Amino acid sequence: MVETIHPVSVLEGAVRLPGDKAVSHRYAMLSSIAEGTSTIHNYSSGADCASTLGCMKALGVPITKEGKTVTVQGVGLDGLKAPSAKLDAGNSGSTIRMLSGILAAQPFECEIEGDESLAKRPMARIITPLAQMGAQIEAKDGKYPPLHIHGRKLTAIDYTLPVASAQVKTAVLFAGIYCDGATIVREPVLTRDHSEIALREFGAEVESMGKVITLHGRPKLTGRELTVPGDISSSSFFLVAAMLKPGSRIVIEGVGLNPTRAGLMDFLAGGGAKIRVANIGQVNGEVVGDIVVEYARWEGGIIEKATTAQLIDEIPALAVLGATSKQGLTVRDAAELRVKETDRIATVAENMKRMGIEMQVEQDGFHVPGNQQFKAATVDSFGDHRIAMAFSVAALAADGPCTIEDAGAASVSFPEFYTMIRGLAR
Ligand code: S3P
Repeated sequence: MVETIHPVSVLEGAVRLPGDKAVSHRYAMLSSIAEGTSTIHNYSSGADCASTLGCMKALGVPITKEGKTVTVQGVGLDGLKAPSAKLDAGNSGSTIRMLSGILAAQPFECEIEGDESLAKRPMARIITPLAQMGAQIEAKDGKYPPLHIHGRKLTAIDYTLPVASAQVKTAVLFAGIYCDGATIVREPVLTRDHSEIALREFGAEVESMGKVITLHGRPKLTGRELTVPGDISSSSFFLVAAMLKPGSRIVIEGVGLNPTRAGLMDFLAGGGAKIRVANIGQVNGEVVGDIVVEYARWEGGIIEKATTAQLIDEIPALAVLGATSKQGLTVRDAAELRVKETDRIATVAENMKRMGIEMQVEQDGFHVPGNQQFKAATVDSFGDHRIAMAFSVAALAADGPCTIEDAGAASVSFPEFYTMIRGLAR
């Protein structure tokens, strides 16, 4: 699918975004192994979260979906069944990594695979701790999908994460659900804590002391009613769009503002963005509120150290904003960008070049100088949802119509993206 994006003069209006991808995955997995029925409202409409539902169904969990509401008849900790075919994680790193923690502890064997992009993404980061717990997992070349998982009784461990990754933390915690005693995960920097919050919501005992998380094994998980907040990572495209076009004002309603994700707002505000949050409340332990953003010329900024982990998914969108800012954007300590759905340092750099934007690339980061103007061009998502959306936003501020090749990749997290962004154009 190809999209043509025309430059706009102003973006104005209110939107309510699809449910958070990260939270949706966790609710789908935990409700499946809980006792009783869970109803999940505002479940992510993205293909990644559909992949998780497909895997849970293949593991014998009765799941129905009506619009954005998913009903899961939990089968209990020991109720999953051996799938009759390979599990398909599609494009979703979250599905394969987090679900592997659960699969490693089952009394059956199975195989989980994904698409061409997922087949190149590193899995040693979950295989290593799960093997320490006693799991037997075979991977292509020892580190890539498909994963062949021989489930067995696992042992709780105390694990220090070598990479800042909420997916790896979650894989270990989800395996820990099945262990006797306490599983401890120590993080190098704080990463998103949706798993800890969701586990508590379902009834597990989880303690977080700074960057040390302790989960008590064999919890009684109980099905419940849940509402997924709007996806703050998807909101980044609207925030950046509003900050590219003078006179713009966008209200984004019901967004998840979990402090481990909302660093985005502080980072933008630190560079002079006019952003405020309103109607703040809590839903299922997650902070939720409305974001109001108005145009303001951004100063630019530096993303490094712990901030890099917190903003990792938003970096493609922020790179676009950096190009039009006063001082530009510098990103450091971001080697993880090279192993996302695409090598996001390379795919951002390629599209910037096509749009006439100067950018200096490092192995673990980049610098986009400010005060630049996007030129009309044909860009490519390279099959990566966040690259499709970031450069669609850049196209709104270009000097002529732009073509986005493989634009359909956006549907991995946000199928409604093009309709919603066009709906705000004035
Ligand atoms: C996610 C964690 C991050 C993020 C991904 C979703 C999660 O990945 O990039 O989009 O839901 O836990 P890593 O754990 O690889 O950093």
